[in-house]
Amino acid sequence: MDKFIIKGGYKLNGEVTISGAKNSALALMPAALLASGNYTFTNMPDLRDIKTMSSLLQDIGMMIKRKGHTLTLDTKGVSKYKAPYELVKKMRASIYVLGPLLSRYGYAKVSLPGGCAWGPRPVNLHIEGIQKLGAHVELEHGYIIAKAKRLRGTIINFDVSSVGATGNILMAAVLAKGTTIIENAAIEPEITALSEFLIKMGAKIDGIRTHRLEIEGVDELHTANEEMIPDRIEAGTYLVAGAITGGKIKIMKCNPEHLSTITEKLKEAGATLLIDSDIIELKAPKQIHPVDVTTSIYPGFPTDMQAQWIALMMLANGSSVVTDTIYYDRFKHVPELVRLGADIELNKNIAVIKGVKKLIGAKVMSTDLRASASLILAGLVAEGTTEVLRVYHIDRGYETIEKKLRSLGADIRRVSSKEF
Ligand code: EPZ
Repeated sequence: MDKFIIKGGYKLNGEVTISGAKNSALALMPAALLASGNYTFTNMPDLRDIKTMSSLLQDIGMMIKRKGHTLTLDTKGVSKYKAPYELVKKMRASIYVLGPLLSRYGYAKVSLPGGCAWGPRPVNLHIEGIQKLGAHVELEHGYIIAKAKRLRGTIINFDVSSVGATGNILMAAVLAKGTTIIENAAIEPEITALSEFLIKMGAKIDGIRTHRLEIEGVDELHTANEEMIPDRIEAGTYLVAGAITGGKIKIMKCNPEHLSTITEKLKEAGATLLIDSDIIELKAPKQIHPVDVTTSIYPGFPTDMQAQWIALMMLANGSSVVTDTIYYDRFKHVPELVRLGADIELNKNIAVIKGVKKLIGAKVMSTDLRASASLILAGLVAEGTTEVLRVYHIDRGYETIEKKLRSLGADIRRVSSKEF
């Protein structure tokens, strides 16, 4: 397992280009199961999670080729309708094959997901949703087995706004007979991108960008090509990297509209931001002001930026409170940050961070994707050397992060496990 060795204390300056959105790509790849033929996806990030999704889809019979940041998919050979435990346990997003397999082939056998290390990750909304669309569902030996001659449109009202469940039910409903209404649908940009892609494939969807989606089922869809939207969480992470190190950075090829809550909070923390159509320039504050954050669904402050925000607040000139209302136990980064000298009190889903003058480098352990990002951010500013272990977590969602950080002036290098 590789590790990163970071020498802290360097201000980050310069430009970094944001990659395509992991969580959009993970929805659009399975959407290609909905119609037979060839697809070309561009601005595809080169990430572990994309490799995992590719293996899963190839196992189902899809042909996938990568050339740089372009992925070509051929779905003519799809002949299996099972997502095996060995692949699904590595990544929760694997459950995205459930909706398309069921609606196109009338059968899907998908292992219950494993995914990130933190807390229980229910999929009840996915299962209840396809049942309401008329699927017969059995849970057997850790698998969801769903069957349906043809799904029938209905009204589905999610009691929790769920990105994955909205995506899955959307992909199930587009080929159902009749109209489906999804109330309390997620409106994250990745769901908007999925809806727009499905419309390109011939789906009939109204209410995009609202919490009420109306899908008129069609008999058949056709292939389409798509460019991935920029990754808003990668962009937010680099903005925090500039702010925490006292530097001045420009993030290129981002979508500022998807980051509005994050940029607002960074301004409150004292940063100066210049925002253009697809560029955000950040000048770090002299002193980081303490700013409270409560995560919420889009367009609120994203839970995927919670760990990175805690890292920034560790050096603020005062106390701040970070509350995660989406995942109550997504705080495995806190004890590791405390090893670097942070002063953080955790009580259930509420972290109280008392700003300290400095952090001291140490050996810390990654536990999940965004926790790893917060450890790297802290290492960039800690005195001395920080070793971040198990960086395979970070490789899931940040394309060549050490190269991008080095290009901004960080002293970070990857050491492969063979060397230590
Ligand atoms: C997506 O996960 C993202 N992953 C996550 O990003 C992100 O943290 C999450 O949305 C919230 O924004 C992908 O898009 C691949 P949810 P998802 O269903 O769809 C509860 C990252 O770091 N819930 O919106 O799995 C759930 O427990 C990853 O890139 C149910 O109760 O999240 C949570 O409290 C991590 N029942 C809330 O909904 C269900 O059936 C939101 O979860 C499903 C979810």
